[in-house]
Formats: sequence, C-alpha cells, structure tokens
Amino acid sequence: MAMNVGTSWRTWLKHNAMLAFVAEEVSALSTEPFSWVAASDWIDTTAGNGMAVDEYGQEMDRADTEFWSQHCSPGILCFQATKSHKPVTVMMFELDPYTYEVLVEQLGYQLDRLGFNVGDDHLDRFEWIGQSEFGQQITVTAIRGSGHTAPVDHIARAHAVLVLNDPNNVDRWAVRDGFATEIMGRGTNMLRMFHAIGANANGVKRMSRDYRARWFRFVDAEIFALNANHDLILCRLVQDSHQWAYMIRTSSGWRHKAERIFKRSFKDWGHGLDFAWHRGNAEQFDAITKKLFLTSSEYQYEESVGETLCLF
Ligand SMILES: C[S@@+](CC[C@H](N)C(=O)[O-])C[C@H]1O[C@@H](n2cnc3c(N)ncnc32)[C@H](O)[C@@H]1O
Repeated sequence: MAMNVGTSWRTWLKHNAMLAFVAEEVSALSTEPFSWVAASDWIDTTAGNGMAVDEYGQEMDRADTEFWSQHCSPGILCFQATKSHKPVTVMMFELDPYTYEVLVEQLGYQLDRLGFNVGDDHLDRFEWIGQSEFGQQITVTAIRGSGHTAPVDHIARAHAVLVLNDPNNVDRWAVRDGFATEIMGRGTNMLRMFHAIGANANGVKRMSRDYRARWFRFVDAEIFALNANHDLILCRLVQDSHQWAYMIRTSSGWRHKAERIFKRSFKDWGHGLDFAWHRGNAEQFDAITKKLFLTSSEYQYEESVGETLCLF
C-alpha cells in the first residue's frame, strides 16, 4: 500500500494498532501470572457502524468474518473475545442513531456466524451471548448513546479492563473526565486505554486556540487520572499532514509492549514516529502535545521565547 497517497491508510494502520492492543491483552491473560484475573471488561466508547474498512478506505457491508475481525473496532473486539481464556463483556457505544442501526445489523450478521445468540433486544440496546474457544461466556452489548455514559458498576477487583476511544475530532472525545479513576475505584489496577487523536482532522489546526484547548484538557485529564503504576505514551506520526496521534495508557511494566504496538503497526509509515512516555520523559511528552495542538507558528514562537505562552 502506498503510504503517502490519500488518507485511508490511517484507518488501516489504526486498526493494526487496535488489533495488536487487544490481542496482546488476550494473550497475556492466558498466561499463568494472570491466572488470578477473573474476567475481562472491554468498552468501545465510539464503536462506529461495525463495517470493516479496506486499505482504500471502502466500508464493506457484511465483510468476510476474518477480514471483519481485523478492520473495525467492533470486529476486533468480538473476534478477540472468542480467543479469550476469561469471560468477556464487550460494551459498545454509538451516538449517531443511523450509525447505531448499521452497527446492530453488522453485529447481528457477524455474531450469528460466530455462533452467538441474541439476548436482550431493546430499541437502543442490543445484546448477544456467545462463548469463547475456551468455553468462556462472552456478552456483547451495543448501546445507542454516548461513550460518556459508559457504566463501571459491572467492573470488579479481579477484572482486566480495556477502553477504546476513537472519536473523529475533539468535539467527540467520548471518555468522561475521571473515567479511569472511576474504573480503578472498582478495585482493579488492570486498565489499558487506547485513544486516537485527530489533531488536524477537519482542519482542527485552523480552529481557535480556545477550541484546540480542549485537546490539551483531555490529555491533561488522562495525566491527572494516572495512578502510581500507570503511564501514558503519546505517539505522533512524523510529517503527517493530518497529524494523527495515538495515546495508550498502560501499566508501567507493559511499557515495552505499547512501544512495540506502535513500532510494528506503523512500520510502513516512512517518516518515523515521535513518541514519549509521560513519566519517562515529561518534557518530550509535553513537546509532542504542543506539536500536535499548536499551529507551527505558535509552536515556533513558544520555542523561540523559551517559555510557554500556552494558556491551555
Ligand atoms: C472514527 S469512528 C469509530 C470507528 C471505530 N472505532 C472503528 O475502529 O471501527 C467514530 C464514531 O464515534 C461516534 N461517536 C462520536 N462521539 C461519540 C460519543 N460521545 N459516544 C459514542 N459514539 C460517538 C461517531 O458517530 C462515529 O460513528
């Protein structure tokens, strides 16, 4: 695939990274050190329509199940759940009513093929029940509503939690402030989160500083919600005109895994990656944030005066 033509490759590479992120969790939890983990709770705050997207950016209605399992977040989560050694709940949120309808339709088709049965069925909440290859129960729930409303009361101490947050732009950040703290308030320390950040999608860079300030605020909220065992990595594609970036929250012991996800998933991007850990190199982390959310003249000005004029 040509990495410099069009924008569709971003979605393709993003799904590579999401798949690696989820598959790594499933694989780790199958090992002895994690035998104490009782269940997995996965939350997709921005599920989309559940159609796989090919390398040309084309959405595929009722895609081949293997392809579906790699090229949209609902497919990645549902299929990886079938590989799990632990029971899994998958909750997916989609705000847009029409997109939600398509999501339910695509899930119905694919989950039927994967041997799931329909459970509860309401206008704005649809549930399927299935089993993993290892006989563990899987509950998939699609909810018409905002990821901001994702509940945490099903999460318990011995649960491992994954959150995917993939909004199109800053207006659509779908994780409420303090969500990570609420999850950990349920007694678990096993929390990983994957955020996609589209700093220049829809021309965000041309927006006012006040508007862009929200990206800074969301990153700050994630930093604020770090506990002693967690860290945040921010990864930016160098020389990407759309300035897509990705942020993973993970336990400090899994830092190398997160770096590997980015290096492998974006290996075909020819201009390199710029990434930093908040705890490991806060200065560099901060610089990447500014490169993403300030215009280049604002950034250069801040660099040249050697102080931050950024009031975000
Ligand atoms: C980039 S798409 C998601 C793609 C999907 N994650 C995937 O990988 O296949 C973003 C979706 O999030 C939805 N969305 C935006 N804000 C949301 C919110 N606060 N809660 C739930 N869904 C939201 C949009 O309607 C859109 O369908």
